[in-house]
Amino acid sequence: MAASPIPSDPDLERSFWRLYRDFFDQAERRRRWSIRDDIPWENCNPNLDPCVADVVESFCGVELYLPDYTSKILPVVRSSRGRTWFYANWGYEESKHSLVLGDWLLRSGQRTDEQMADLEKMVFQGEWNLPHDNHLGMLVYAMTQELATWLNYRNLRRRAEERGGDPALEKLLTLVAVDEKAHFTFFKDCVELYLKFDRPATLEQMRGVMNNFAMQAIHDLLTDSRQRVAQVKALEIFNEDLYYREVYLPILEALGVSRNEMRNRLPSRKTEPVA
Ligand SMILES: [Fe+2]
Ligand SMILES: [Fe+2]
Repeated sequence: MAASPIPSDPDLERSFWRLYRDFFDQAERRRRWSIRDDIPWENCNPNLDPCVADVVESFCGVELYLPDYTSKILPVVRSSRGRTWFYANWGYEESKHSLVLGDWLLRSGQRTDEQMADLEKMVFQGEWNLPHDNHLGMLVYAMTQELATWLNYRNLRRRAEERGGDPALEKLLTLVAVDEKAHFTFFKDCVELYLKFDRPATLEQMRGVMNNFAMQAIHDLLTDSRQRVAQVKALEIFNEDLYYREVYLPILEALGVSRNEMRNRLPSRKTEPVA
């Protein structure tokens, strides 16, 4: 699906650029971490419940779609330096996520080199496409996806603690979750700017995206997706109820949007580009 590119607006662009510089400065000061040095790899637990490793593999697979995530969104945000520079930095951080999850699967002994090669082969046979054709819809989607992803990693860490413990996995999931929260905050701040700029159009996209949100990547992209989604639900890492309580409502609160404003209105207004 091709998405409409962002119309350029000098005031919005100045604000995006400021958000990006703050995001980047903070990332450099407080959030940089090393796969080699910051994970206690010697403390991998070979007796961890294998159901935790199955979910790690699914999440690693989702992170491996990075070439599609970056290559498809960059043309949409091309006219905004703040947004494109953000995605350059974002891509670096997301690349570490699949690397560190893959390293853990191997170093813990939960997967072999052959199994990891199969996972990569599966990913590169598929293709992720933009789930929304409106640039603002994609921004709302990115915001929602990042908070949902943060929740997935936080809950996976909790399940790892409960099911045998693995200090290496717990540490890396903590670091990854902090990154995901920072990504969410950047996108949320962008949506906040759009709410000030054109509230009706932004609310329309929020309704369209957030009232129908699913973990699209696992559903659509990974083989055995039914089983993978069932594993995530069985461990109570992510489900509709958790989405509503820990993603949907907190986003509304953070943006000062009421539940009433999120009611789907029928007949729905035709989507107009934000200009
Ligand atoms: Fe990630
Ligand atoms: Fe992220």
